[in-house]
Amino acid sequence: MTQRKILITSALPYANGPIHLGHMLEYIQTDIWSRFQKARGHQCYYVCADDAHGTPIMLKAQQLGIIPEQMIAQTSQEHQADFAEFLIGFDNYHSTHSEENKQFASDIYTKLDQGGYIKRKTISQLFDPEKQMFLPDRFVKGDCPKCGALDQNGDSCDSCGATYSPTELKNPRSVVSGATPVLKDSEHYFFDLPAFEQMLKDWTRSGSLQDEMANKLQEWFTEGLQQWDISRDAPYFGFEIPGAPGKFFYVWLDAPIGYLASFKNYCDKTGVNFDQFWQKDSEAEIYHFIGKDIIYFHSLFWPAMLDGAGYRKPTSVYAHGFVTVNGAKMSKSRGTFIKARTYLEHLNPEYLRYYFASKLTSNITDLDLNLEDFAQKVNADLVGKVVNIASRCASFISKKFDGKLTAEIAEPALLAEFTTAGETIAESFEKREFARAIREIMALADKANQYIDAKAPWVLAKNEATLTEAHLVCSMGINLFRVLMHYLKPVLPAMAKEVELFLNDELSWSTYQTALTNHSINVFKPLMQRVEMTKVEAMVEGSKDNLQPTATVAPKAAETKAAPAAAIAADGAIEPIGETINIDDFAKLDLRVARIINAEHVEGADKLVKLQLDLGNEQRQVFAGIKSAYQPEQLIGRLTVMVANLAPRKMRFGMSEGMVMAAGPGGSDIFLLTPDDGATPGMRVK
Ligand code: 2FM
Ligand code: ZN
Repeated sequence: MTQRKILITSALPYANGPIHLGHMLEYIQTDIWSRFQKARGHQCYYVCADDAHGTPIMLKAQQLGIIPEQMIAQTSQEHQADFAEFLIGFDNYHSTHSEENKQFASDIYTKLDQGGYIKRKTISQLFDPEKQMFLPDRFVKGDCPKCGALDQNGDSCDSCGATYSPTELKNPRSVVSGATPVLKDSEHYFFDLPAFEQMLKDWTRSGSLQDEMANKLQEWFTEGLQQWDISRDAPYFGFEIPGAPGKFFYVWLDAPIGYLASFKNYCDKTGVNFDQFWQKDSEAEIYHFIGKDIIYFHSLFWPAMLDGAGYRKPTSVYAHGFVTVNGAKMSKSRGTFIKARTYLEHLNPEYLRYYFASKLTSNITDLDLNLEDFAQKVNADLVGKVVNIASRCASFISKKFDGKLTAEIAEPALLAEFTTAGETIAESFEKREFARAIREIMALADKANQYIDAKAPWVLAKNEATLTEAHLVCSMGINLFRVLMHYLKPVLPAMAKEVELFLNDELSWSTYQTALTNHSINVFKPLMQRVEMTKVEAMVEGSKDNLQPTATVAPKAAETKAAPAAAIAADGAIEPIGETINIDDFAKLDLRVARIINAEHVEGADKLVKLQLDLGNEQRQVFAGIKSAYQPEQLIGRLTVMVANLAPRKMRFGMSEGMVMAAGPGGSDIFLLTPDDGATPGMRVK
C-alpha cells in the first residue's frame, strides 16, 4: 500500500461557549477516521483550533468584565480538557487569535486584493448609538413587521415565520444596550465570489463531494453567487484589515484560515513540510469535517479564497447532520442539551464514541442519541458480546495454563474468516460508513460467542481428558477477540490500550493477521462496565438549567447584572465584581418595592417561579429562577425589590415584565431581597 499524506480538520469551535454532545459527534467522527488512517500507516495529521473572533465573543467578555484574550484562553483550556477526555487525538490545537493566523489572513487578503477580488462598497446598517457599534442581525430585536409579534429576532419571526431584514422591524432595539438603533453608512469590503463560479463548478464535479452537498451547491449556483461582505467596523474583536484602519476581518474570513494556521504552528514545532500539503500542485489529501450548517462557507467561500490566493483546494469537505436526543432537538429544559463536561461527570466517553460510530454513515442525515437505546446497545454489544469473549476464555488460561496460549490454532478457517474481513471493514471505515463497519464487527463477535457456546470450554475443563481441548478453545477465543479489538481500536482507543496490556501485544494493522500462539497473556481485568440508566438519568438531571430561558443572543447587559443566576458561578463561588458602571448607568435602574401577590410553579421549568407583583399602582408578571430556594406558597404576601424598567422579555412560558433581585451562591442558598421594615409597594429604592 502506498503511503498517503493526509491532513484532516474538524470545524473550529467558538471560544465563547462549552462543547456539547452536538459538537462531539463531529470530533468523534473525525477522530475515528484520523486514528484509522494513522493505523493504516499513512502520514496523517489531525489539527483544530478555537474560533476566537467576532462580536458575540467581544460582548461576552465585556459582560464578564474581562478582556477577550482572557476569556478565550480560559475557554480554550476547557475545550481542550473536554476533547482530551473524549480521547480526541489532535496533533495540534491552536487558536484563530494567533500570530500565524494573522499572517495568513493578511497574506491571503492581500493576494485576493491584488488579484482584483476585493470590492469596496458603502452600505447602510443598524447602529447602536449608545454602544457606538454596528449591530449584527442577531443583536437587534423588535416587533415583527408582518404579524406584529413582540420581541422578535432581527432576521425572522418565531410567531409567524416571516423572514426580513432588521431594518424592517417595528420598534427595533439593540440587544446590547436597549437603545433604538439608527441607520448609518459605512464602507465595506466584499470578496468577489461570483468571479470563482466556473472554478467552483469544476471543483464540485471533480472532487469526491457527498451527493447531498453537490446538489446543494447546484442549487446555490442556480440562485446565483453573491459578493461576500468580509469587513466589520470597530469595535470588533479580530484582525485589522491591512491598509484599512478601523476595519476588521469578519470572523468567518479568518476562521477557516485557522486550519492553515494550526497546521503551520504544528509544522514549525515538528519540521513537517507545510508547503508539501498546501502548495498548488500538492499531492497530499486535505479533508474538512464539518456540520451541515456551515457547508456554504466550506464549499464556496473557502475553496475560492484558497484558489484566489494561490493555494490548493481541499480534496473534499465531509458534512454530517445534527444530533437529536430522544428524537427531538437538544433542549435545556428537558435536560437533553448535554455538555461534554456533564456527560464526562457521569459516563465513560467510550460509550458515546461507540454509540455514535454504530450510527454514523457518510451522509448528512441527523443522528438520534436515544438514551435508552444508547445504554442498551453499549451493554449488548461491547459488554455482552465483545468483552464477554475475553472474559469467558481468559481466567481459565490464567488459572490452568499459567497464562499461556496454545501453540496451535484450533480452527484456522474461523480465524481466517475474521482476519480476511479486515479489508471490507477497512473499506467501510475509509468511506466513513462506520455503522456498516460496526455491524460487520458485531456479526463476527456473534460468531465468536457461538463458537465458544458450542464448545462450552467450562464443561471441557472439568474433565482431565478434555483439558487440552478446553485450552485450545479458549486460546482460539482470545485470538478472535484480539482481531475484533484491533478493528475497534480507532473507536475505542482507551479500551484497546487495556487490551494491549492484557494481551502483551500491540494491536497493529501490520500484525493482526498473525495469530498469537505460545504467547503469555496477563490476568484479565474487567474492560468495560455496563451503562447504568441511573447514571444516564443523573446526567439528564444535571443538564437541566432553567434559570433563564434559552438565550439565542447575548442577554442585555443590565439583565445580566441584575439576574441572580448570572452573578453566581457554576461552582457556587461568589464572582469577582465585574465591569464598573457609573452613577448615570445606575440611575437608569428603576428599583421598586413590590408585593408578591401570587406565586406559582411553572409547568415544564424546574427552576422558575411565576410571580404576580403589585407595584401599588400596577401589577407585573415576572419569572424568577428561585425555585431551588423557595416554594411558591412561601412567597405570597412578601415584599421584594424589582427592576421595574427592565424591557419585557418573551420567555418560553410567557412575558416577564421585570426582574426581582436576589443574591447568593445558588441552589437552596438564594436570598430574595425582602425589605420588610415598613416599605410599601411602589416605593422607589435608592
Ligand atoms: O460554526 C461554528 O461553530 C464555527 N466556529 C466553525 C468554524 S469552522 C472553520 F471555518 F473555522
Ligand atoms: Zn411575525
